[in-house]
Amino acid sequence: MPAIVILGAQWGDEGKGKATDLLATNDTIDYCVRTSGGHNAGHTIVVNGEKFATHLLPSGILTPGCTSVIANGVVISPEALFRELDALQARGVAADNLVISANAHVIASYHSTIDKVTERFLGASKIGTTGRGIGPAYADKINRIGIRVADLFDESILRLKVEAALDVRNHLLAKVYNRRAINPREAADELLSYADRLRPMVADTSLLLNDALDRGKTVLFEGAQATMLDVDHGTYPFVTSSSPVAGGVCTGAGIGPTRIDRVIGVIKAYTTRVGSGPFPTELFDADGERLWDVGGEVGVSTGRNRRCGWYDSVVARYATRVNGLTELFLTKLDVLSGWETIPVCVAYDVDGERHEEMPMTQTEFHHATPIYEQLPGWGIDISGCRSFGELPANARAYVRALEDLSGTSFWAVGVGPGREQTVVVS
Ligand code: GDP
Ligand code: IMO
Ligand code: MG
Repeated sequence: MPAIVILGAQWGDEGKGKATDLLATNDTIDYCVRTSGGHNAGHTIVVNGEKFATHLLPSGILTPGCTSVIANGVVISPEALFRELDALQARGVAADNLVISANAHVIASYHSTIDKVTERFLGASKIGTTGRGIGPAYADKINRIGIRVADLFDESILRLKVEAALDVRNHLLAKVYNRRAINPREAADELLSYADRLRPMVADTSLLLNDALDRGKTVLFEGAQATMLDVDHGTYPFVTSSSPVAGGVCTGAGIGPTRIDRVIGVIKAYTTRVGSGPFPTELFDADGERLWDVGGEVGVSTGRNRRCGWYDSVVARYATRVNGLTELFLTKLDVLSGWETIPVCVAYDVDGERHEEMPMTQTEFHHATPIYEQLPGWGIDISGCRSFGELPANARAYVRALEDLSGTSFWAVGVGPGREQTVVVS
């Protein structure tokens, strides 16, 4: 299976890092590729009890022999990139096998300034962004005033482009947001200071990956963010500014859709979300608090508490559909151990009407209340189980019920954060 996509099926933090690491360890993954988003992502990988977090770097950076690629669809903060590389190297990870697209857009420090002031200006209507400059960098890309990695190697072009990018932005900062304008010379100087260290890593990654696929190499496209945060298919405007769905892999890496063999959605056995926006199965009671506590639901990137709720099979079916999933990887089943019954959302009630599928409009989605089915729980800790047959009968039945409701087969189930705490569904 040479080209595999791993992506988030809910609102992020499903355990994509663990799924990537698992595949990279069990199968020989030659390339691990990020195709969208930036350092707004936070992926946790636990190897032999030691915890690692990746943000901008693909999780494959932890696997010796795997080439990590940051493709053209990603927005790169060089400052965050070097900080992450240095931190990993300080812990003994080589992190020296990294290739970066010349066409990826750059996040400058003015992008995160603008991200933060925009959020403050929105007040109660804020998106709850990570404040990392992701939205403003993608906005510049679409507005055709973005800075690409290759621009850092041509000083005169870079200075012109930074001036053009800041022209309108500085009016906005000074006249609307009442902030100090950004000095284009200083902004360009900062970007130029990263050029020498970046240069040896930069290549035509579309060519590199297509060549690798031609040679039968295995390429893993590691998703960041998730389906419900997709700028087209998510809960707009409470979304990120990129396309984390399967289709985004093609534009984000410069490969054709016919090259992809497997699309694995990662989904939690319950649901979480960080930031603002609708979330039909959200809990505000002791059950929600228990999911948050047992699941350790605190954001890896921003340290914010994640909102928690029950499994939503309408979201699962939607993710299956818009991504053309070939399978799902169900994570964190162990967190549900000990509940007597576990509610699972099977459909929504929208203004008195039953919806089996995602409602067409965001107004309807905001009105959706979950229709639950109660499934029997299992009383015992399952974190030591290593085969599907070892799971208690009710846990197996829970997995099978979710599988039936979600529209695609389950490949594996996570029973703990560790690499080995995974059960293949048979
Ligand atoms: P990502 O952004 O999708 O890579 O996910 P995060 O790393 O942000 O959040 C997932 C969290 O769940 C991390 O703390 C993982 O270590 C943890 N995790 C992943 N799979 C499992 C699992 O099966 N059980 C438990 N208990 N934790 C898991
Ligand atoms: P991983 O890869 C969870 C959310 C933010 C906010 C919205 C927009 O770890 O699953 P942005 O800074 O991207 O403009 O913020 O998207 N968000 C995430 N939530 N996991 C993530 O990444 C996220 N990346 C962005 O909280 O609501
Ligand atoms: Mg995360």
